[in-house]
Amino acid sequence: MARKFFIETFGCQMNVLDSEKIAGNLLQNGLESVEDSAQADVIILNTCSVREKAVQKVYARLGEFKRARRENPDLVLGVVGCMAQLEGEAVLAKAPHVNLLAGPQKGGVIADLVHEAAITGAAAISMRMDEDPEPMEVAFILRENRWRASVTISEGCSRRCSFCVVPFTRGKQRDRESGKIIREVEELVAEGYIEIVLLGQTVNSYRDPSPAGNSFPDLVRRLAAIRGLERIRFTSPHPDDFSDDLLNVMESCPKVCNHIHLPVQSGSSRILRAMRRGYSRRRYLETVRKIQRAAREIAISTDIIVGFPGEREEDFRDTLSLLDEARYDSLYSFKYSPRPTTTAASLPDDVPEEVKSRRLSLLQEQQKLIQYNKNAAYVGRALEVLVEEPARNRFSLSGRAGNNKIVNFNGPKYLLGKLITVDITDFSANSLKGALASGPQE
Ligand code: 5AD
Repeated sequence: MARKFFIETFGCQMNVLDSEKIAGNLLQNGLESVEDSAQADVIILNTCSVREKAVQKVYARLGEFKRARRENPDLVLGVVGCMAQLEGEAVLAKAPHVNLLAGPQKGGVIADLVHEAAITGAAAISMRMDEDPEPMEVAFILRENRWRASVTISEGCSRRCSFCVVPFTRGKQRDRESGKIIREVEELVAEGYIEIVLLGQTVNSYRDPSPAGNSFPDLVRRLAAIRGLERIRFTSPHPDDFSDDLLNVMESCPKVCNHIHLPVQSGSSRILRAMRRGYSRRRYLETVRKIQRAAREIAISTDIIVGFPGEREEDFRDTLSLLDEARYDSLYSFKYSPRPTTTAASLPDDVPEEVKSRRLSLLQEQQKLIQYNKNAAYVGRALEVLVEEPARNRFSLSGRAGNNKIVNFNGPKYLLGKLITVDITDFSANSLKGALASGPQE
């Protein structure tokens, strides 16, 4: 009987794709996927280490698997991904029932590791950071979504933002050859995918290593020429590498979704310097204004960290006022969390926890109001959405518009996976509500 595997993913979109690569590797090696960890012979936690909380969550989850492993000594319990890379064998010291440990980019060898753990009875470990580009070419990816597919264009990050652990867990930036990216997307389109999401830590810093030497905007242009591909998204661009050429591609290619996630991290130039972001508040806002003045309406979202070491009230006020100037369509906000190996970890984490909490909630409240007002302006307009199953059941269907807004509406199931037009009738701060537009929908 085929052994059964269960994968739980923590963290970012890249981790979701890594899990799909792991699942593909296990499936190709004769294992079978199950939805319930209780049925599994192989449990893989694909982890995140960007904040301390993400790491604690994994340890808490591992605690829950202690009994399962005691009751079934043949169970393979794996910790893979960024936290495994960062913590290394400390994971085994803290959770001795773990018997597989692998860094990110090990999707292609997970089945081998599972096999090794199963036959030796000892922990199988693969932590070497592989800098050669081949691991980006994986044989098979078991994708969860039938219409939207993520595609790796680069791995790792060569920047050194002082708060961020990712360069240490995923290594320096390595770019994938444009020809291979294009072939993968063509194959995906042939399989019926209509939306692709290009992934890289700083996706717009992409440089084609092949003689074609494509820049990121060049690559997007070539992908936009693929017949049958309807939508292109990418995440996340770094503000420093946001070129006029990229904006030009977005203005001129309707297939490129009109949404940009542009992490700012802070509205204070002083803090941005301490974070080593490479841009000032003024320069960031110039980029935002360019995007806002584009020939096409482009939604902007961002990431913000509050309570970075040395963040004073006036720095935080700069962040609040930046929200008013940028008027983001959505915001992901976090309390600063010192991470091992980063340069900021050597600074005193001097903003008290309750101050971090207060700043976070003030920020979120202000953003909520902005979103509420922005979303209100959509009532009476029509948006094209890619129809998907809703997460909650109040509406029969849900979809994402090109600008990344969630639109909930009622309609028949056969619309799943199609691009259709929805008339917006109502809104909240976080989503829009609509009705199927009349007329032919195809
Ligand atoms: N503490 C808090 N948030 C962090 N992020 C990255 N590192 C840290 C940290 N040490 C946030 C940034 C990044 C997002 C993915 O996570 O905002 O853009």
